[in-house]
Amino acid sequence: MESNAIYPGSFDPITNGHIDIIRRGAKLFPRIVVAVLQNPKKTTLFATEERVEIIREIFRQEPQIEVASFHGLLVKFAAERGIRIVIRGLRAVSDFEYEFQMALMNQNLSPELEFLFMMPSAPYTFLNSGVVKEVFALGGSVRDLVPPVVEQRLHEKLSRDNPSIQ
Ligand code: PNS
Repeated sequence: MESNAIYPGSFDPITNGHIDIIRRGAKLFPRIVVAVLQNPKKTTLFATEERVEIIREIFRQEPQIEVASFHGLLVKFAAERGIRIVIRGLRAVSDFEYEFQMALMNQNLSPELEFLFMMPSAPYTFLNSGVVKEVFALGGSVRDLVPPVVEQRLHEKLSRDNPSIQ
């Protein structure tokens, strides 16, 4: 019987689509570890600590949801935590190839790791972090796409006059 699951990602920033998967995942497992990738090779809008802080703020009243950062291989982080289940969201056919490749590579590295794919709830099928950043930078509303804390952080981070988005 499995106990915990990892939900890894870049979360730059976390969206309502991610939150939907996390909360639904939390109904399946006693504990979900949201694992924020710290990748020095990838330029992100929010620093790792900021992404972790934002996600902790969102789930501060949900002790079942833990937030941590990791660097290096996901299989190593999972092994350190003694977790065998990885949750990923699968939005559309376009996600499939990337997710399939990643799952197979991880399984190759660690055969005991299982990937569990969850479909997003319908309103979030089009949503990803890149879209949120682009819409916000171009002056569109992201109110229905991210929680208020993310919208606030986007305002703090990006001057409307100089929207340098990654
Ligand atoms: O939100 P993302 O960017 O689609 O998440 C991708 C993530 C963080 C799950 C993936 O890049 C990852 O697990 N990176 C850690 C490095 C790793 O384990 N690579 C080997 C498997 S492809």
